[in-house]
Amino acid sequence: MVYVAFLVCLLFSLTTASFPANETHWQIWKKQHHKKYESAAEEEFRKHTWTRNLAFVLDHNSKYPSFTVELNKFADRTLKEMVRETAVVKRQKTEEVKYIYQKLQGTPASFDWRKRGVVPPVHNQGSSGDAVAFAVTDSIDSYHKINTGQLVALSVQETSDCCTRGHLMGNPFACIKKLGGLCSEADYPHSASSGVCHSTSCHPAAQIKGSRSVMQGNETDLQLAVLQNPVVVLVDANHASFQLYRSGVYVDNTCSDKRLDHALLLVGYGSMSGKDYWICKNSWGTNWGMQGYILIARNDHNMCGIATAASLPI
Ligand SMILES: *[C@@H]1O[C@H](CO)[C@@H](O)[C@H](O)[C@H]1NC(C)=O
Ligand SMILES: *[C@@H]1O[C@H](CO)[C@@H](O)[C@H](O)[C@H]1NC(C)=O
Repeated sequence: MVYVAFLVCLLFSLTTASFPANETHWQIWKKQHHKKYESAAEEEFRKHTWTRNLAFVLDHNSKYPSFTVELNKFADRTLKEMVRETAVVKRQKTEEVKYIYQKLQGTPASFDWRKRGVVPPVHNQGSSGDAVAFAVTDSIDSYHKINTGQLVALSVQETSDCCTRGHLMGNPFACIKKLGGLCSEADYPHSASSGVCHSTSCHPAAQIKGSRSVMQGNETDLQLAVLQNPVVVLVDANHASFQLYRSGVYVDNTCSDKRLDHALLLVGYGSMSGKDYWICKNSWGTNWGMQGYILIARNDHNMCGIATAASLPI
């Protein structure tokens, strides 16, 4: 008990004050995140990366109050590794689709699909995950719940095997429509990623009619879209500030609105002390960010490309 309290105190003082004992802090962090390395050389490299991230965290949190970063489970990884492990195949530009949204009775100042029970729990995509598959499957889970009242866990593996992984894809929704819908997770379970499509071995549990694309870069249009259904968004997540994000409204002015390398599920929006944000669900586990979620600046010049390649099932 005393030992734990001591460690907590130590950790706290180390993250807030300067660093007289990086080694101790490193040992505590490793233990906290169950890190084991194969060789002394690897540990050396991990520690070096972690130390650079430590410097980044201390610097960021002292200078930018809009959001905080932390030494989370990714703190021993380089950005290059994050991108290699989580990157999505850059999507071809989808053709702009003309569509009509259902008439809204005014636009609410804030909205959150989680409060309506249509958003599945946060996933952990693991190191070889297919982020697009998670976001696309989630958006169809939500679509099915909104339209039928039933929340069925649909198969992320099927989406990945058949429509997203390794495909320089056009539109994953069109692909899923062609399959006749998605099977449940129970009927098409997670496997150590075969990459082979087995969709004929199960019965679809949810169908879609097609998809709509948000007008490129138009955040008003994105707002209308998310009022209809959770939206799949692609963003530039290739920044330490994103990797180590903890809480607050995310802003990174070095972000690109074109080089998109990660997929998220947009589930709502709001404002906090005058700063507008989008509520986005990531697939890196609940021990990343705000219980697995990130708030990204809204109406701030299409921050990180959030409205560049957004689409939703219809
Ligand atoms: C701890 O890490 C920081 C950040 O890189 C570095 O500036 C400092 O010299 C390190 N302190 C020790 C004692 O190694
Ligand atoms: C952005 O989208 C809104 C809502 O769909 C639309 O009314 C507006 O004309 C669009 N703006 C531009 C510049 O296309």
